Amino acid sequence: MQHPVFAANWKMNHGPTAARAFVTAFLERFAPRQDRTVILFPPALSMAVVGWSLRDRQDIGLGVQNISTEDKGAFTGENSAPMARDAGARYALVGHSERRHVFGESDEETAKKCAAAVRSQLTPMLCVGELLAEREAGTTETVVLRQLRAGQLSHDDVSTMAIAYEPVWAIGTGRTATPQDAAAVHATIRAALVALIGDRGKDVPILYGGSVNAGNARSLLDAPGVNGLLVGGASLEPEGWTTICSA
Ligand code: PGA
Repeated sequence: MQHPVFAANWKMNHGPTAARAFVTAFLERFAPRQDRTVILFPPALSMAVVGWSLRDRQDIGLGVQNISTEDKGAFTGENSAPMARDAGARYALVGHSERRHVFGESDEETAKKCAAAVRSQLTPMLCVGELLAEREAGTTETVVLRQLRAGQLSHDDVSTMAIAYEPVWAIGTGRTATPQDAAAVHATIRAALVALIGDRGKDVPILYGGSVNAGNARSLLDAPGVNGLLVGGASLEPEGWTTICSA
C-alpha cells in the first residue's frame, strides 16, 4: 500500500481571496514530504487561484468537489470534468454525502460522474457511507457495498481510483467513528474491492472522513486499513490542517 493520503474538502468555503491566503500560509508551514500525498479540494471558483498558488509545489494535488455527468453543453451552472482537468485538477470527489443527501444524487448519477472523471483522466474519490438510521438498523455494510458497486469500478479504472468511507452521522457533527468502527467498515470495503476487481483492489486507497481533527487524526490513521483522511471543517484553517497533514 502506498503512503497515506490527506485530503481537504473545503466545501462551500474559501473564495479566491481566502483560498490564496490559505495556500500561502499552508505552504509556509508544510515542507514537501515524500511519505504522504496531500490534496486540496477547493470550491470550483477558487481552483484557478489555488492551482496557481501551488505552481511550485508539485507535491500537493488539486481536486474538484463535484463534476457534471456530461463533458460540455447546455448545463447552466455545471462544471465538467474536462474543464476541471484544464483548471489543474487531478482528482474529483464523487458521491459525497452532501451531494447524495442534500442534492439528491442517485447511485446512477454517481456512477456517471465516476465515468466522467475517468474519461478526463481525473482520479475519482468515490465517497460512501451510511446514515445514522442505517447504522442503527444494522445495514451499514449493505449500504456501503451498494454504493461501492454502484460506482461501477472496472479493472481499467482502478489504477486511478480512491474510496472515502464517510459515515453520514459523523460528517460535521463532531461525532467521529471510533478507530475500531472505521477499521471494520474499511475491511468490508477492501474485501469488496478485491472481490470486484481482483488483486488490484488491494492498492486502492481507502480514506476515512467524518469529524477528523488535529486531535484524532493519528489514532484514525493508525486504525488497520485506514489509508488516509478526508477532512472538512478542520481543513479550513492552515495551522490545524498542517498539524493533520503532519500526523
Ligand atoms: P467534516 O467533513 O470533516 O467537517 O466532518 C468531512 C467531509 O464531509 O468530507
